[in-house]
Amino acid sequence: MPLVAGVDTSTQSCKVVVRDAATGALVRSGSAKHPDGTEIDPRHWWDAFGAAAREAGGLDDVAAIAVGGQQHGMVALDAEGNVIRDALLWNDTRSAQAAEDLIRELGDGNRDAGAQAWADATGSVLVASLTVTKLRWLRDAEPDNAARVAAVALPHDWLSWRIAGFGPAGDPDAPLGPQLDKLFTDRSDASGTGYFDAEASGTPHDGTPPGAYRPDLLKLALGRDDVVLPRVLGPSEAGAVAHPSVAGSAVEGGALVGPGAGDNAGASLGLGMRPGDIAISIGTSGVVSAVAPTRTADGSGAINGFADATGNALMLAVTLNAARVLDAARAVLGCDVDELATLALAAPPGADGLVLVPYLEGERTPNRPDATGTLHGIRLATSSREHLARAYVEGMLCGLADGLDALRAQGVPIERVMLIGGAAQSPAVQTIAPQVFGLPIGIPEPGEYVADGAARQAAWVLTAAEDPGAAAPAWSTTVATTLDADPQPVIREQYAAVRDLV
Ligand code: XUL
Repeated sequence: MPLVAGVDTSTQSCKVVVRDAATGALVRSGSAKHPDGTEIDPRHWWDAFGAAAREAGGLDDVAAIAVGGQQHGMVALDAEGNVIRDALLWNDTRSAQAAEDLIRELGDGNRDAGAQAWADATGSVLVASLTVTKLRWLRDAEPDNAARVAAVALPHDWLSWRIAGFGPAGDPDAPLGPQLDKLFTDRSDASGTGYFDAEASGTPHDGTPPGAYRPDLLKLALGRDDVVLPRVLGPSEAGAVAHPSVAGSAVEGGALVGPGAGDNAGASLGLGMRPGDIAISIGTSGVVSAVAPTRTADGSGAINGFADATGNALMLAVTLNAARVLDAARAVLGCDVDELATLALAAPPGADGLVLVPYLEGERTPNRPDATGTLHGIRLATSSREHLARAYVEGMLCGLADGLDALRAQGVPIERVMLIGGAAQSPAVQTIAPQVFGLPIGIPEPGEYVADGAARQAAWVLTAAEDPGAAAPAWSTTVATTLDADPQPVIREQYAAVRDLV
């Protein structure tokens, strides 16, 4: 049976899974850390990918590979294929003012009109995360660097290009050199740039879903549009053959490289999500996502209308304050994960009125890049470690519940809710989440959903090479546990009463 590899080049680390193409069974895996920070030299992603692939026993025997990755990061390349400056990541908020400026400019000075115009054009109202705002920041803050830009890629596009053997001129790891026109991407990640309309008709590739770049928006941000943008592939279209020094050397014809995906679309493919499914992911970012046949254009900005990795839309509410709110709680309380859960569950629902608004790193949904967190309702009776632990967990979940409400408000069908991400394993989160969301919640088998989704895409690319109309392979994801609890509306009512005071 052929083997396929899936890669997740995430904010924190690189993960590689090798799976059986037919059954999806896990064969080998590896991972390696990325440095912390919101701007990173992409070389670290390449090194971590190499280390993770080695830990996974190498990739000589895989017949296809695909990369899922953190969305939006700006990887600006010069004509020689060099990365011009450290990549600015999705969680870097220095371009918040650039986002505001671009919104007003598209609305001829009117913010509301501009916000709706961006949503109509790209599915998203701009926030600092989106690539287009980082390009505007570059134009204004680093004009010399901006003048050198010859191509703009996203983290997953850049890593796929490197896997295919391309890269900076003279780099021994890049035997095929800086061929910028060989960059490729997919519709899901392109839809997070802010200069791609995933629902424009007129696709360059037969039979693939629609989508087209908006050079006018790119030009509005960067001041010019004479830069190479990665070719947007269909969901099961191969973009390259991996360089044999990286993958596929033991396979006839080498390893096909799939189009890849943004991490949220990758996870959705890994989970086998269909319209009606909702995933709530508690990782570095908190993401509430839904697959829908087409996107809406939410001018309020709460929902990003991205594309998924199969031809549907992926509607997303993203918060910047998720798992790290629990890390902060552990730092404040000087305790470990288990003790945090024990403490939080020892306090009553609503923590007797102690409410944390968790905008510890500013916030994206709602759009408050400069906000800080606030704690309300501190009294003698709530001045206990238990109350504090509970307030942190509830505050984080309330931020995500606001995201679910925003999806509801867009008319997105909600039939099945799944909780994923590292923090979804916390007993406190598992107990309190159904109380906050007021819904039963499924916990899928733990897995590397983004890397798994990329592997599933790689298997799809492999079948589509023989049969272009083939559907994605039917690997199954099982929901291991379903959590249920009496809803505790008091938690969200208290939160709603203080959320907007910040
Ligand atoms: C999505 C987003 C984050 C990153 C995290 O819009 O910014 O989920 O993709 O990797």
